[in-house]
Amino acid sequence: MKIDFSKKDLLFLAPLAGYTDLPFRQVVKNFGVDVTVSEMISSNALIYNSKKTKRMLLKAPNETPYIVQIAGNSEEIIKEAVLILNDIDGIDGIDLNCGCPVPKVVNHGSGSALLKDLPKMARLIETIKKHSNKRYLSVKSRLGFEEKIPKEIVKVVEQSGADWLTLHGRTRADKYKPDRIDYDAIADAKQVASIPIVANGDINSLQKYKEVKEITKADAVMIGRGAVGNPWIFYQIKNNLEVVKKDKIKEIILEHFNSMLEVYGDLGVSIFRKHLHTYSKGFAEASSFRDRVNRTDDSEVIRGYIEEFFG
Ligand SMILES: Cc1cc2nc3c(=O)[nH]c(=O)nc-3n(C[C@H](O)[C@H](O)[C@H](O)COP(=O)(O)O)c2cc1C
Repeated sequence: MKIDFSKKDLLFLAPLAGYTDLPFRQVVKNFGVDVTVSEMISSNALIYNSKKTKRMLLKAPNETPYIVQIAGNSEEIIKEAVLILNDIDGIDGIDLNCGCPVPKVVNHGSGSALLKDLPKMARLIETIKKHSNKRYLSVKSRLGFEEKIPKEIVKVVEQSGADWLTLHGRTRADKYKPDRIDYDAIADAKQVASIPIVANGDINSLQKYKEVKEITKADAVMIGRGAVGNPWIFYQIKNNLEVVKKDKIKEIILEHFNSMLEVYGDLGVSIFRKHLHTYSKGFAEASSFRDRVNRTDDSEVIRGYIEEFFG
């Protein structure tokens, strides 16, 4: 399926390792997300532990277009990983992770470490371009490693053949510090870019979405943490709603629950409890709802509690 960057309110779900699992992606996709991305997959793991890693590539039937994100620092290994992905149907694009700040990844020369070596980053993007049989190639990056270099990043990414660039408005050194988010730097990138720019970082409300679009003039936005416990944010943005009605929230929660049971079987109930705790936050009587949910493993009983509590 084609990604139309001229579409108003084009929305991406950010990859959040440990959070954006298949059931979550399936639900947000049904309620407003245009593009979903897999959790980061190490190109090494894909090659050397292919069976286990391939499970991470599984997607929901409604996830089109579906982008798989890989990380790595070696052209040879990236090439091998791409060749493996080429044999898997249903993947519409490959995204190269150039933003991960985690020491384990950075010390290996991958993720945001690539922002210290733009020629290498270029070679890796070109390697994917050369060998991938997928429709799309994209890059997800921070603004720099320590210094902000958004314009340099755009140039490297577009000259190497990527179709779009997602920019998280922080450097690696900024970690996730709230006061460090810099949408002006994303706007600088957008100004010089000839490929679409997807703005990312701290978008957690309709208001914030509008503000970020206004400042950055980005072609699309990507939302991660703002959707955790709040997956209706996409529905809210798409429909320009100040408040999402409780009925819609209930519908989304029930769909998430059904999807968890489908994917995880009986285990889905216990995994879903933590989601219900978050979803009930801020509602009256939330603590007694949580108590009741904690005391049963029966999915039908829990469904009844959800119907009643969010009814
Ligand atoms: C727990 C967690 C896991 C993440 N996993 C990934 C990942 O696998 N790949 C990636 O490119 N970014 C990852 N990120 C970064 C997010 O995709 C996103 O760029 C960042 O959280 C800022 O956007 P947000 O404020 O909308 O969450 C992760 C962030 C968090 C907090």
